[in-house]
Amino acid sequence: MQTDRGRLSRRAFLGSGAVGAAASGLAQSAAPPARPPGPNSRITVGMIAVGARAHELLEAIKKVQGTEIVAVCDAYKGRLERAVARTGGRARIVADYREILASKDIDVVTVASPDHWHKTHVVEALKAGKDVYCEKPLTYTIEEGSEILETVRQTGRLVQVGSQPISSATQQHAREIIRSGKLGKITLIRASYNRNTASGAWIYPIPPDASPATVNWEMFLGSAPRRAFDLARFFRWRCYKEYSGGIATDLFVHLCTSIHFLMDARMPSSVAAMGQLYRWKESRDVPDTLNAILEYPEGFTVNLSSSFNNQYSSEGNFQILGTEGTVLLGSSGLTHTAETAVEDNRWIVESWPRGLQDAYYKDPKVMREEMPASRPARIRQAAQTFREQGPEATVAHFERFFESVRTRQPAVEDALAGHRAAACAHLINRSVETGKVVAWDFSRESVKL
Ligand SMILES: NC(=O)c1ccc[n+]([C@@H]2O[C@H](COP(=O)([O-])OP(=O)(O)OC[C@H]3O[C@@H](n4cnc5c(N)ncnc54)[C@H](O)[C@@H]3O)[C@@H](O)[C@H]2O)c1
Repeated sequence: MQTDRGRLSRRAFLGSGAVGAAASGLAQSAAPPARPPGPNSRITVGMIAVGARAHELLEAIKKVQGTEIVAVCDAYKGRLERAVARTGGRARIVADYREILASKDIDVVTVASPDHWHKTHVVEALKAGKDVYCEKPLTYTIEEGSEILETVRQTGRLVQVGSQPISSATQQHAREIIRSGKLGKITLIRASYNRNTASGAWIYPIPPDASPATVNWEMFLGSAPRRAFDLARFFRWRCYKEYSGGIATDLFVHLCTSIHFLMDARMPSSVAAMGQLYRWKESRDVPDTLNAILEYPEGFTVNLSSSFNNQYSSEGNFQILGTEGTVLLGSSGLTHTAETAVEDNRWIVESWPRGLQDAYYKDPKVMREEMPASRPARIRQAAQTFREQGPEATVAHFERFFESVRTRQPAVEDALAGHRAAACAHLINRSVETGKVVAWDFSRESVKL
């Protein structure tokens, strides 16, 4: 199903040519929108880039009442056609994202382009008076984050970043458990993403109709280094440093967003990481195995790891380890287990003279702490499980974003939160590249020089 308005001629497509080129700390209401949507009026959306993720965004937006996707823009014709079909032929295709920015009938812009384009799309959209939903990672470099924050400050527009797991019922529940103190003092969090398929390692199938006639190579490149037409780079851009930060910006950024949300943390003060390319050598210049340690001034440490060579532990798994309990968190739910640690000094005391050993075990304090029958009741409690419920996380994340657009209240994952989570990824990559521990300068919201 496609209307004339939604059809893109080859000439218009190719003619577009090179396209010229809460959280934390910004908790103030945003400026009124250029075209104020009333409490019951429709919020109109223009989508910059409608690739694989944006098709999921599109379906999520359709589930939020009072919204309508009116325009789409992309560098591959096939995706534009499919996006228009998904809107029942209602969205119009524009050849250049600046047409979306110039459209008076558009309130909100989604940005789901490759990472090296995010800053340009976000900053220009804010300056055009739009509120912006940008996919993670918000930035391709740390410096871009400062520019986005400054533009948010100047324009008063809203930015929400798309690390949707924080809007899931499971992560909200995990946050409540942590805030209740049930886990005691949390000093270590482990989190990982492990995969063992070509698709998991971003070697996606290339559509058979992809060619210079259907793919706008210059539009994709933008400010990236000039290169000859290359479909692998176009459709598998995550594998290349010129467009992506690899595992750190693609996957760890989600983990860091969640950890900051769960722990009310701002940013690690220092980061050390090592990365290697062991296996998928022909297809990329970024590591396929990455290990990072992040130290937080709030008093805990994070171990992040990811491998594309074994999938033993599933996607996005967190182990949140406290003195009183553990939360294991995944996309389908969580398990909360109280700690079962019991003092046991038998192997030490059994090496003492017999009389001293017997006396030790008659001490009431030792009997209380080391004799199994008197273990506190909590250690006999069964693990508590929570199964994911409620709307799918991307839908929930959009519901909260559109609520912010209507009420002008701060977005749930604002530009500062997005900047910091992406900056964690950039610090990790910097540590890998330099072989050094790198630190964060909280006063400048940037890397310590
Ligand atoms: N939140 C999540 O769970 C999640 C999941 C997947 C991807 N993402 C993010 O979404 C973004 C897109 O990823 P993807 O998997 O959809 O990649 P993709 O390659 O499928 O889509 C990118 C699209 O951008 C288009 N494009 C390239 N340059 C453009 C330009 N200058 N203007 C307009 N369109 C342009 C391409 O033609 C392509 O269709 C990335 O930032 C990625 O990190 C987020």
